[in-house]
Amino acid sequence: AQHKARQKILEALKLSHEQLLEVKRRMRVEMEKGLGKETHAEATVKMLPTYVCSTPDGTEKGDFLALDLGGTNFRVLLVRVRNGMRRGVEMHNKIYSIPLEVMQGTGEELFDHIVHCISDFLEYMGMKGVSLPLGFTFSFPCKQTNLDEGILLKWTKGFKATGCEGEDVVSLLKEAIHRREEFDLDVVAVVNDTVGTMMTCGYEDPYCEVGLIVGTGSNACYMEEMRNVELVEGDEGRMCVNMEWGAFGDNGCLDDIQTEFDLAVDELSLNPGKQRFEKMISGMYLGEIVRNILINFTKRGLLFRGRISERLKTRGIFETKFLSQIESDCLALLQVRSILQHLGLESTCDDSIIVKEVTVGVDGTLYKLHPHFSAIMQDTVRQLSPCCEVTFLQSEDGSGKGAALITAVACRIREAGQ
Ligand code: BG6
Ligand code: GLC
Repeated sequence: AQHKARQKILEALKLSHEQLLEVKRRMRVEMEKGLGKETHAEATVKMLPTYVCSTPDGTEKGDFLALDLGGTNFRVLLVRVRNGMRRGVEMHNKIYSIPLEVMQGTGEELFDHIVHCISDFLEYMGMKGVSLPLGFTFSFPCKQTNLDEGILLKWTKGFKATGCEGEDVVSLLKEAIHRREEFDLDVVAVVNDTVGTMMTCGYEDPYCEVGLIVGTGSNACYMEEMRNVELVEGDEGRMCVNMEWGAFGDNGCLDDIQTEFDLAVDELSLNPGKQRFEKMISGMYLGEIVRNILINFTKRGLLFRGRISERLKTRGIFETKFLSQIESDCLALLQVRSILQHLGLESTCDDSIIVKEVTVGVDGTLYKLHPHFSAIMQDTVRQLSPCCEVTFLQSEDGSGKGAALITAVACRIREAGQ
């Protein structure tokens, strides 16, 4: 009976094939609003033009710096791209942490910190004083009117630094570089992580024309026909569009599939009411969904002997890596129990079985680490688009390589025009 009671609560999290088709239909409606000139202002799925108009063709070359900000790790990279017989990419990178108080402090502090990390990296590589073109992967919604300008529309995920929304992040970066008075950099491109990922994979496979992130946040980009990108003049060729699908549902169009758990997660987040689709699926929020379910079970006496511990009341205890471990088929229940113990949740053996049932499908980190996520996604895509053969390529070195390739193309075109 208890098992049934739990299954009933979990039922709301499962979508039938018909419901998935309906979500697909609604997503299409929102995409069209985002692309249309008249409807864009009120659209929630923003469909942002990126000014990236082609995938790499293998002729790119040079040394570039790249920044990768907005996922689990902040990285500074040196990317060497060679063409011709020695075609290939060599990368060096260093990971830096961004303390929470910097993510949520002032914009000046955040950008000063970024420039401090670049300075450390240049010193580490023995490259102080070298001025290289830079590609900036900045994984937040930006309005672009050029490749090298991006106005931050709003922070998402765990960032909330003041004085940045409505500002051009390239200018904020350049100002911080000038404040430091130590080196100069030529910021050539600002790139969303989905676009960087598409370009990274596009270097290996020219047919790759969609970028997908399922990590801390979730989002996609794809090459769209220019005639459909109404915000940009011209009808010829194609342009990559950053969908910002994380905001799907912010106008209420997914209310009927939001569960009480989704609502609870949204309410306690940094940006209530925003990024509702992202909050239903991505790594930053999935652990919170699970925690809310466990609280519900416990309240009903279906788990942890009905006792809600202080620990279970604590936000953020279920990091994605724990969920991925718990969902792994080869993990013995004793190990699940030891993970729960590690989280400070005393459990019986039965409890461990139950927790294993609850976990939810989920990289970035989610797609890459979760044992079933990629297979379920492939399967669902097949069901929803039976006529289209979709291959998923995993980006091996993150999106920094892609940002460097975009920078390389822009530098080549700029030099050709001079
Ligand atoms: C990394 C990319 O591999 O994945 C980043 O280099 C991207 O640009 C990240 O933001 C997304 O995954 P996560 O899990 O780190 O948010
Ligand atoms: C958030 C950001 C988006 C990014 C995604 C994945 O949804 O708004 O720009 O691509 O996270 O990192």
